[in-house]
Amino acid sequence: MFEQQPEDLRFYVKQLASVAVQKSEPSAWFEVLYTEAKGDTAKIPWAKLAPHPYLQDWLTNHQPFASRQKALVIGCGLGDDAEALAYRGFEVTAFDISPTAIAWCQERFPDSTVSYVVADLLAIPSQWHQAFDKVFECRNIQALPLNVRSSVISSVAAVVAPGGTLLLITRVRDTEAEPDGPPWPLSESELKQFENVGLQQVEKLVFLESELDVKQVRIEYQRHT
Ligand SMILES: C[S@@+](CC[C@H](N)C(=O)[O-])C[C@H]1O[C@@H](n2cnc3c(N)ncnc32)[C@H](O)[C@@H]1O
Repeated sequence: MFEQQPEDLRFYVKQLASVAVQKSEPSAWFEVLYTEAKGDTAKIPWAKLAPHPYLQDWLTNHQPFASRQKALVIGCGLGDDAEALAYRGFEVTAFDISPTAIAWCQERFPDSTVSYVVADLLAIPSQWHQAFDKVFECRNIQALPLNVRSSVISSVAAVVAPGGTLLLITRVRDTEAEPDGPPWPLSESELKQFENVGLQQVEKLVFLESELDVKQVRIEYQRHT
């Protein structure tokens, strides 16, 4: 999130997020940002218009079995990661809390097989409970403040089917102290919560982006049958 963004956009996002957090509506500012962008992707700090490179790398190196496998993309933004999974053969549902983001995905990919829906990660539909073979979570948890972190992690884990996997891409921080977000990178103890809610870590890669002073991880978790 916010990689190499102009200072004024970064400042604007921080302001929007700060007001939303003060009102205890931490997800409310995303719709404002998408609406105000008026179709200009340069105004969406995380929009790369391509799948995340660590997802691409995972798909290339793991060659996952995708036929009739149901995938869920959390906080799908403008849809590039969802499209990459669909291209590999997954039956993809992708959701975001922002109706404007979802409409934007449908406009960008009119022939897509992805089912794009508006939904709230903190109030997921009951039929999604443990329903997905592959869950992709990229840079959404870090975009929400620490006071909702446990609930967010529980919700992300809750949609993983028995035998299914979660692929997580996120920034991490080295201390337990509260960072000045957004983004709010995850701590070691927060990552541990995935295991406390029934998942087991299968693979973890750490990426240091020293020019940005950013540490990211890509972790694959599995829910045992
Ligand atoms: C930092 S962006 C990341 C988007 C995308 N995952 C990526 O990596 O490009 C966070 C996304 O999460 C969405 N979001 C925020 N709160 C949410 C919630 N409670 N439920 C679902 N989506 C949410 C936002 O609208 C936004 O598209």
